[in-house]
Amino acid sequence: MHQYMTSQTRGQTFFSLFSKGQSNSRCRSLRSYVICTVFLLLFLCYYIIPNEMSASWAITVGLLLPEKLATQTINASLNRVSAVTSAERWKPPEPYYVAYPYKYNLVLNEPEKCQKENPFLILMVPVAPSNTAARDTVRSTWGSERLVGDKTVNVLFLLGLPTSEDRETLQQNLLQEREKYHDLIQSDFWDSYYNLTIKTMVMLEWLSVYCQNASFAMKVDADMFLHVKNLVDMLQSAPKQNYMTGLVARNAMVIRNPTSKWYLPKTVYSQPLYPPYALGLGYVFTLDLPEKLIKAAQHVKSVYIEDVFLGLCMTHLGIPLTDPPDGSLFNVFPVQYNRCRYSKLIATTTHSMRDQVEFWKDLQKPGPYC
Ligand SMILES: *[C@@H]1O[C@H](CO)[C@@H](O)[C@H](O)[C@H]1NC(C)=O
Ligand SMILES: *[C@@H]1O[C@H](CO)[C@@H](O)[C@H](O)[C@H]1NC(C)=O
Ligand SMILES: *[C@@H]1O[C@H](CO)[C@@H](O)[C@H](O)[C@H]1NC(C)=O
Repeated sequence: MHQYMTSQTRGQTFFSLFSKGQSNSRCRSLRSYVICTVFLLLFLCYYIIPNEMSASWAITVGLLLPEKLATQTINASLNRVSAVTSAERWKPPEPYYVAYPYKYNLVLNEPEKCQKENPFLILMVPVAPSNTAARDTVRSTWGSERLVGDKTVNVLFLLGLPTSEDRETLQQNLLQEREKYHDLIQSDFWDSYYNLTIKTMVMLEWLSVYCQNASFAMKVDADMFLHVKNLVDMLQSAPKQNYMTGLVARNAMVIRNPTSKWYLPKTVYSQPLYPPYALGLGYVFTLDLPEKLIKAAQHVKSVYIEDVFLGLCMTHLGIPLTDPPDGSLFNVFPVQYNRCRYSKLIATTTHSMRDQVEFWKDLQKPGPYC
């Protein structure tokens, strides 16, 4: 994934090459002079080659190196990838490429949210910057349930940068929305489908910095119906660390049909099966995991399917996913509304925002559920 090298690594590549040449020939004979001249030329070229060309140049240097040395060099540059910062923006060199690990900055933040409210559970909702309607729907339904028994629940929305033509207006509106609700976290990557992995990683980074004291976090899509009380009830008896649950997919086949929304080419992920992963519509985890997952992500090739990527990181960490206590709690297909059924589940997709609002309102009404 990370084909470029840092200038430091390139420097090392050169010097290991140079000192090897020096020890073998001491530049005495004419032949040695020629070799030395070649090295000198290489040296000069190396340092005058403009930045744009250095990636391909590094490959050329790599070809001259013994394979083992080259691998080590590439490995070293991979391990150092998290240190590559702000110098310049890069564009994805190939489709399905994810610009992560990379340092993104927060544009909108609520740094004191967790400190002030000390939540037991924090709900993190990824949503497109322009989708105010979805945010308002969440705020008026399950997002309004801030206290369950003595447990505080917080909701934050995760945004990237708007990509549309009217982005300046959109950003202005977001500033107003922030003043009103104080529930927006925005980072400086382009908000797009293929950047959802970045959004998830920024979420984990945010949690590890600003919300370590919460017990649980849930990533939940804005178009879900969520039963907050049932969720909190389940979590009261859940493990306190190394815990991630939701609808866990096991032995799922990788989709190789290029027209699918979830297509992954073999060049990006070669295994035929995905690792176990919790479906992205809603997964819950303990707050010790964000830091571990961020570390793992430095070593795992990123894929744009965010939940699969977290599954890969969990596999890397050797932490198994936990199935929910009951298979009907999390639902990937919209469950038909029925007061009794909905009073027992935790999360389900819905057909529309209107459904989401109606089901939630109906469940608030007093009276028996079943
Ligand atoms: C690459 O780096 C990792 C972590 O530092 C190390 O465990 C591994 O052995 C290295 N691989 C090679 C081929 O040098
Ligand atoms: C986290 O909780 C501990 C113990 O309750 C407290 O001392 C600490 O200040 C809290 N940290 C934050 C960032 O809220
Ligand atoms: C993802 O965001 C990065 C950083 O803003 C950007 O360079 C890249 O083009 C985006 N990718 C897609 C597919 O939108």
